[in-house]
Amino acid sequence: MSRLDSFIRRLEAQRRMLDWAAASIMDRPGLVLELGLGNGRTYDHLREILPERDIHVFERDVSPNPASMPPAGMLVAGDMAMTLPAFAARHGRSAALVHVDVTTGVPERDRILFAWLPEHVAALAAPDALVLSGWELDHAALVAVPLPEGVPAGRYYAYRRVC
Ligand SMILES: C[S@@+](CC[C@H](N)C(=O)[O-])C[C@H]1O[C@@H](n2cnc3c(N)ncnc32)[C@H](O)[C@@H]1O
Repeated sequence: MSRLDSFIRRLEAQRRMLDWAAASIMDRPGLVLELGLGNGRTYDHLREILPERDIHVFERDVSPNPASMPPAGMLVAGDMAMTLPAFAARHGRSAALVHVDVTTGVPERDRILFAWLPEHVAALAAPDALVLSGWELDHAALVAVPLPEGVPAGRYYAYRRVC
């Protein structure tokens, strides 16, 4: 498969995952956390499908498409290794949904480079929260759940935060 095909499939999977997650958290209160603003595409989709939610966005190099800049107060700029624990100290386990879109594009590399991340995600996820990621998250409190229809195993990952 060409990298173009692979990229398109990843974006299709992302959209399915986000739509599925938005429906799943409909009756559950809590923050939505977008880890990795990048160009702002998935953030823009999240705010469209979850218009009533507070969506906090984390990014080190803030340079999205101007149409996808989060409002003041909802953008947490800086290295997530520092900003996530600081946010957890203020907000505790307050997230109903965490979307982890911090990636180098190479999942095997991500698991090593971002080995510190699952702990911070678990510290922010409320009991039973949904966590989505483009690469496998290894943490005892994050239990893998089946993917929505149409997303092949290994293309994206979904977890529930167990108590
Ligand atoms: C794949 S991009 C996000 C794409 C975005 N969700 C979109 O749909 O346009 C990953 C982002 O994570 C950011 N990032 C990587 N490591 C980070 C870190 N340690 N702290 C904060 N942001 C980081 C990068 O700067 C990059 O913008």
